[in-house]
Amino acid sequence: MSASEPGPAVDGTIAAGTNPDITSILVENRRFPPPKAFAAAAHLGQPETVEELRQRAALDPVGYWCDVAKTDVRWSKPFTQGLDWSDAPHARWFADGELNISDNCLDRHCETWRRHKAALIWEGEPIGANGPEIRTLTYQQLLVQVQKFAAVLRSLGVQAGDRVCLYLPMIPEAAIAMLACARIGAVHSVVFGGFSAEALRDRTLDAGAKVIVTADAGYRRGALLRLKDVVDEALTRNGGAACVQHVVVVQRAGCEVQWQAGRDAWWHECMAAAPAGMPPTALPAEHPLFILYTSGTTGKPKGILHTTGGYLTHTTRTARWVFDLRDDDLFWCTADVGWVTGHSYVVYGPLSNGATVLMYEGGPAFPDKDRFWDIVQRHRVTVFYTAPTALRTFMAWGDAPILKHDLSSLRLLGTVGEPINPAAWVWYRSVIGGDRCPIVDTWWQTETGGILIAPLPGVQTCVPGTATLPLPGIAADVVDNQGKSLPADVGGLLVIRQPWPGMARTIWGDRERFAQTYYGRIAGMYVTGDGARRDADGNFWILGRVDDVLNVAGHRIGTMEVESALVSHPHVAEAAVVGRPDALTGQAIVAFVTPMLGVQTSPALAEVLRSHVASEIGGLARPAEIRFATALPKTRSGKIMRRLLRELATAGQVTGDVTTLEDFGVIEKLRATDED
Ligand code: WT7
Repeated sequence: MSASEPGPAVDGTIAAGTNPDITSILVENRRFPPPKAFAAAAHLGQPETVEELRQRAALDPVGYWCDVAKTDVRWSKPFTQGLDWSDAPHARWFADGELNISDNCLDRHCETWRRHKAALIWEGEPIGANGPEIRTLTYQQLLVQVQKFAAVLRSLGVQAGDRVCLYLPMIPEAAIAMLACARIGAVHSVVFGGFSAEALRDRTLDAGAKVIVTADAGYRRGALLRLKDVVDEALTRNGGAACVQHVVVVQRAGCEVQWQAGRDAWWHECMAAAPAGMPPTALPAEHPLFILYTSGTTGKPKGILHTTGGYLTHTTRTARWVFDLRDDDLFWCTADVGWVTGHSYVVYGPLSNGATVLMYEGGPAFPDKDRFWDIVQRHRVTVFYTAPTALRTFMAWGDAPILKHDLSSLRLLGTVGEPINPAAWVWYRSVIGGDRCPIVDTWWQTETGGILIAPLPGVQTCVPGTATLPLPGIAADVVDNQGKSLPADVGGLLVIRQPWPGMARTIWGDRERFAQTYYGRIAGMYVTGDGARRDADGNFWILGRVDDVLNVAGHRIGTMEVESALVSHPHVAEAAVVGRPDALTGQAIVAFVTPMLGVQTSPALAEVLRSHVASEIGGLARPAEIRFATALPKTRSGKIMRRLLRELATAGQVTGDVTTLEDFGVIEKLRATDED
């Protein structure tokens, strides 16, 4: 199969009334149809069948999803209702049915030949004399652990509906704790291990968590990440979090930790004392499964709430179809469980399918830059799912660390998190995929629960740079501000016109904000916040966020959060944060900072502020650049004009419309600071 050269770059058209920041300049002509052998063995290999399925799903999406829910999920009480939209935009799916997710992910496989099949193959980061530590848990072994930890949670007073905060490294206990919560109907809130004490405290308080599950430390990039210390700080600083009654600590690293008797308990001691055989609790389909915090445009992070039956239906089906999961696969999704990808495609989706999941604790450069490829080779990974930002890092490291290894076990590759530039896509295909593996570019969000736009790799032609078509049963569209469908090649807002089972049900504790954020912009449509255009073949090209949310290394970071962190420093009067394109991380954070009067600016102060943001929010949010300015450009109503700052940060000058700018002199001053 030969790839033709990409066409010339042309300016895309922008529809009147849509966000003028959405410019599409990419034309991509390379096409990669599914390899014959791949199609022949795929779950979906017949284009006609899939076409028929799409048409049926488009005519009756609710009926389509009911069929999926019946075939893919085991119900302890069958449902008779499909979608209940009477409380729109708060959807209810399969509401009179009952099920348990851990039963679906574990018990049902343990009743079959899969009982002794590996569910999790885990590798730790450190390399000892005998190589890295590897733990394999069969479905039966995982079930036993989950039953026991479910009993531990019960003994700590956790009831159905109570919240449990998980602040863990990438170790099997993370999956065990999630599934144990699901088993008794507790709601987990996983907080990424890279978040600071302050961020952990905010999230713990917002969720009202009764228990925090953590580890003494985890290994990351050759260093110890002391999680228990961070938990201790979160529970004391700024009034702490009085809701927390117990902290369960996994002994991962064996390092010294502070101990608060009565509050703290060792995981291994609890497990040793726990009874076996805890049965799964049958839960209504709309019982909450988890809260996951994600950044919004303003104010505090949003606790996105997902529930049981619809989420499992969606993640089970998309995991099987998009990744073409088979019983002989070893599926490696490199995401941390702290992100939604780790929920849906490390834990719930693959395990519900009875697949074997590879889980890796650490970073890609430890001890050397070939760690991932060493893992792929040693374990014979077959399906590999990662983020464009990781791929750009690998590209920057050169091909040598990859070519050292035999990657012939790989048969399918995936990406998620941000638009993948065609150059990285083509590199991924040839260097990692040996020109043999289809690539599924999967578009979705924390709020969507699972993948919405992606190729079905056995039937669809892949095109570098596009997630291609919405999955069957997903009514995606590109519209103008009034919600009118736009023709091909016109940039607009990406919306979903019909509810789908995996969609978020609400924002924890803030129903109004949910309605406003996702359904407040255009009546009756879920507005994703992304810009997109469709090409003549119907492929969706994602153009990035239309609001002020940054996407750094595949993680959404709200400008407001970074700005609040900056102004919390005593030397900062005002701050505005924008993203500029970055070859490695997608976007890099540039902060414009007005210092307090009399404060001397210096590179040292910039450094202090960068670290301050990292300690307030986490290393991910550390600005790449701080620019000091005596004033920030504002509209007459006092709104900071981030668009201008973006232009300054990106192009070094302002060319766009400045008619709403209050003080024109500000731009000149900002440019002047730029030059010193
Ligand atoms: C935002 C959602 C879904 C898990 C990872 C991020 C961007 C995600 C793609 C893709 C282009 C993508 C969007 C989206 N995004 N996948 N394949 N192509 N953009 O989850 O933190 O909720 O972020 O990530 O902008 O809205 P998230």
